Amino acid sequence: MTALTLKPAGASTPRVDVVVVGVAKGAKGLVVAPGGEAVDAAFDGKLATVLESLGASGSEGEVTKLPAPAALKTPVVLVVGLGAAPAKDETYGTEPLRRAAGSAARALAGTKKAAFALPLEAAEDVAAVAEGALLGAYAFTVYLGGEKKTKNGNGNGPKLPLAEITLLGAKPRDKDHKAAAERAIALTEEINRARDLINTPPNDLYPESFAAIAVAAGKEHGVKVEVLDEKALVKGGFGGILGVGQGSATPPRLVKLSYTHPKAEKTLALVGKGITYDSGGISLKSPGHNETMKCDMSGAAAVFAAVVSAARLGLRVNVTAWLALAENMPSGSAVRPGDVLRMYSGKTVEVLNTDAEGRLVLADAITRASEEAPDAIVDVATLTGAMMMALGSRTFGIMSNDDAFRTSLHEIASEVGEASWPMPLPADLRKGMDSSTADIANMGERMGGGLVAGLFLKEFVGEGITWAHLDIAGPAFHEGAPFGYTPKGGTGSAIRTLVRLAERTADGDLG
Ligand code: BES
Ligand code: MN
Ligand code: ZN
Repeated sequence: MTALTLKPAGASTPRVDVVVVGVAKGAKGLVVAPGGEAVDAAFDGKLATVLESLGASGSEGEVTKLPAPAALKTPVVLVVGLGAAPAKDETYGTEPLRRAAGSAARALAGTKKAAFALPLEAAEDVAAVAEGALLGAYAFTVYLGGEKKTKNGNGNGPKLPLAEITLLGAKPRDKDHKAAAERAIALTEEINRARDLINTPPNDLYPESFAAIAVAAGKEHGVKVEVLDEKALVKGGFGGILGVGQGSATPPRLVKLSYTHPKAEKTLALVGKGITYDSGGISLKSPGHNETMKCDMSGAAAVFAAVVSAARLGLRVNVTAWLALAENMPSGSAVRPGDVLRMYSGKTVEVLNTDAEGRLVLADAITRASEEAPDAIVDVATLTGAMMMALGSRTFGIMSNDDAFRTSLHEIASEVGEASWPMPLPADLRKGMDSSTADIANMGERMGGGLVAGLFLKEFVGEGITWAHLDIAGPAFHEGAPFGYTPKGGTGSAIRTLVRLAERTADGDLG
C-alpha cells in the first residue's frame, strides 16, 4: 500500500526520487501551477519555456519527465498537465487536480518516493491530490506470475506502484489539512479494496468468499456483520436471491453490515447488486458480452466500501449496507424463463429473461432494508446495458422516487468528481412489465430498459421511504486505457458519492 505524508513547502526539497509539478494552458502560453515555484526557480524561472520548447501542451494527463537542475536535491522532475489554467482570481478545480495527481502517480510506477508540489492551498486541494495520487498508484497484480510478475519481483510485468507520496506544500499542523489527508487515506484504501474485489476472478470471488471478506473487514473496523446463508434465505423466503442463485454450484448470500454511531440521528441503508458472475443464466449471454461479467458485483463492492469508510471516519450517522450476493449460472437447477418466483415481499415475479437477474436480488434486499425504516435507501448496481447506451461508459444514471433527493445525489456526485446524470421513472413504462401469470414480470419494453429496471425496483421500496437507484453499468469497469486516477478494470464507481452522502446526512444537510 502506498504511504502518504504532508510536508510544508519552504524548507529544503525532501530527499525523494521525483518531484511532481503541474503545468496548465494559460492565455499566453504554459503556466506553472502554484506549488511548483521552488522547482521553477531552480530552472531560473524558465520551466514553462523549457516545456514549450519540448512541445508540451499542458493538456490533461500529459506527463513530461525532465532531469532536475543541480539546485534541487531531486534527480527528476515530472510535469503533469492540468488542462486549462483557471481564470484570474479562480483556483484549480478539485477534479482536474485529482486527475493530474492520478496521472502522475501512474507514470511513477516503479519509483519509490515522490513529492507532489501541486496546488495544495485549501484543504479540499489536499484531499483531491491525495485521493488522485493514492487511487492512481493502484495496481492489481495478485494473479501475475513467472514472466508477468512485477519487475521488482524479478519478472517482466508491470512495475510496482509508487510506494511513498509526500504532499509538498501541505500543512501537517493545520487540522483541516491533516483531516483531509486522513480521510483520503481511509477512503482510497476502501476504494482500492473494492477495485480488488471487482478485479478478482469469479472462480475465487463467489458469494461465500465475498461474505467471508466482509466478515473479516467488519471485525477490523467495528462494523457488525450478519450473513444469511442459503438455509437462512430459504427460511426467510428470499425467493429473488434464491431464484437467481439456484443454478450455481456456489450458493447465494445476503450480507448485512451495520455501522452505528451512538449520537446518530439518521440511518442510511445502502443496497448493492452482488452478482459475482453474470453468465445470463438460461438466457445465456453470447461471447463478447460475458468476459467482463465478474464486474457485476461492483454495486455490492461499492456499498461495502462505503459502510467501512463511514466506520473508519467515525461519521455521526448509522449506515447499513446490504450485499445481495449470487452467481447467475445456467444449469439443470437454474431458474428458467417462464418460472415464477415468490419474492421476500410476497409479490410474485414471472422471470421472462434470466439475464435480468440484478433486479431480482436487489428487490429482496430493498424489501428487507425497508423493514428497518431507514431515512433513505440508495441501491447501487451494474443493472442495465441500456443505461450504458444512454449515458456512455463513464457516467452513472440516478433514478429516485424523490426529485429533490435525486438532485442532491447528482450534486454530491459532481462535488466529489463522479460523472452522473438524473434519469426519470416514466409511469407509462410500468405496463410493459404486466404479466398474466404473476404480479409483475422481470422484463418490460426494450426501449428505456434502464428506466424499466428502475421502475421494477421502485415497487419493492417500503411505503413512504425515500429511495434512489444508481445504475453504474457504464463506469463500474473500465475497459480502455487508464486515464487520470482511473485504472483498467474495476474503478470503485459511486463510492465517493456514497461516502459524501453519508457525511452530508451526518451533518444534517439533507432532509
Ligand atoms: N449485468 C447486466 C448489465 C450490464 C451490462 C452491466 C453490461 C455491465 C455491462 C445485467 O444483469 C443484464 O444482463 N441486463 C440486461 C437486462 C435485459 C435482459 C432486460 C441488459 O441490460 O441487457
Ligand atoms: Mn444479467
Ligand atoms: Zn447482471
